[in-house]
Amino acid sequence: MQRTFIQDLESKKGETVIVRGWVDIRRDQGKLIFLDFRDMTGYVQGVVLPKSGAMEAASRVRPEWAVEVEGKVNPRPEKNIQKDKQNGSIELEILGIRVLNESVTPPIDVRGDGRDIGEEPRLTYRYLDLRRPRMQKNIRSRHAVNMFVRNWLTHEKFTEIETPMLTKSTPEGSRDYIVPSRLEQGKFYALPQSPQQYKQLLMAAGFERYFQLARCMRDEDTRGDRQPEFTQLDMEMSFVEREDVIALNERLLIELVTTLFPEKKIQEIPFPRLSYQEAMEKYQSDKPDLRKDKNDPHLLAFCWVIDFPFFEKTEEGGWTFSHNPFSAPKPEHMDLLMNKERIGDILTTQYDIALNGFEIGGGSIRNHRPEALAKVFEILGHDPEKIRQNFGHMLDAFSYGTPPHGGIAWGIDRLMAILRNEPNIREVIAFAKTGEGRDLMMRAPSEVSSEQLVELGIAITKPKK
Ligand code: AMO
Repeated sequence: MQRTFIQDLESKKGETVIVRGWVDIRRDQGKLIFLDFRDMTGYVQGVVLPKSGAMEAASRVRPEWAVEVEGKVNPRPEKNIQKDKQNGSIELEILGIRVLNESVTPPIDVRGDGRDIGEEPRLTYRYLDLRRPRMQKNIRSRHAVNMFVRNWLTHEKFTEIETPMLTKSTPEGSRDYIVPSRLEQGKFYALPQSPQQYKQLLMAAGFERYFQLARCMRDEDTRGDRQPEFTQLDMEMSFVEREDVIALNERLLIELVTTLFPEKKIQEIPFPRLSYQEAMEKYQSDKPDLRKDKNDPHLLAFCWVIDFPFFEKTEEGGWTFSHNPFSAPKPEHMDLLMNKERIGDILTTQYDIALNGFEIGGGSIRNHRPEALAKVFEILGHDPEKIRQNFGHMLDAFSYGTPPHGGIAWGIDRLMAILRNEPNIREVIAFAKTGEGRDLMMRAPSEVSSEQLVELGIAITKPKK
């Protein structure tokens, strides 16, 4: 007999079915044993009647055992119907149980919401922690968001393109994770902090509209809204200006929220815009929380922050970029950039999007002319040889008719955490890392064998205490 998913049981009243899943709860009432089962589609209550051939197995099974159950879908008597519960109008009369795998007693409770359990056991036994309904909902909701943006952007003529993981260091303002090369000892790849350069090169390559659910790696201290490894919805568009990117993203966010999170209210549409200066003066933050009622769990206050200074003074008296060295200045400030005048006054086309006090995305229109990009690196103090060495491929690509282009990247983990009312992005990431950047389940990072080190030409000096 074919397996029936638990969510389809209500339409099978009177039929005998096979269900596969886990024992969720077991209540032994002497003559009767109640067993609740769950599979990926939901929950159902089952009962083993006194003379059932399943009695022996039913007295043996325990929560979290994987089982196959043969049962008859019986309508519940009127007084026992639970209207607001899944399968509340039926009960599975259990005729047989086949144990597919037993479970030792789980070290953590997997049925509650897990908020009272510490980070360490939850992440060590993540495969169990993920069984809890809250985590199942979070991860499935994330999938729904990913599918929504994939379909929506595809409909808007975007192409999803995967960009390399083994690449070269690119300035995103954070530390790189580096990977040693075996074939060229002493040389290293860097894991991408973002696909920034590749997506711009895809604009040079004529794709015009690119997106990717891109994994990004940044070696920075972890906190509630930051993981060493995270996911961006990364996109780039050709022949656009700032307004085009902002308008498309605003439309996508509104449609995403209204379709998948109908319980949410967006406080203001179109999303308000603040200049960086205004945001800092009024809210002392470049990601202000504009919610009128901070206790309303369904309120979403998006806002755009624009007109950031392009450059900031370094402690040594030089200049560094405030956001992204590949950004273009505002069109009216292009002359200042090209003449390297009033550098502190140059504003960038950068736009950040904040939601309820978190930065959930950022992007800009880029410098698509090689001489303008080179000027930025000159201001940053790179000498011409270093500019060629590090960014020659970008300057070259831009000299072959690369169109004006711009884009944005959303922090999918942060957006999901807010949409799911979770206080920490760990709750929406299947296999998250601890505050110290450890994967407790896999026990990473870990030492490698001396053979591996020899092969890579690497010697470990004393590890730092
Ligand atoms: P940026 O560095 O602002 O821009 O990153 C875009 C968004 O990614 C999220 N984010 C993170 N989320 C979790 N953990 C982290 N460590 C982390 N770091 C960043 C934030 C942020 O807004 N290449 C540019 C985008 C562009 O210009 O198109 C970039 O990466 O929500």
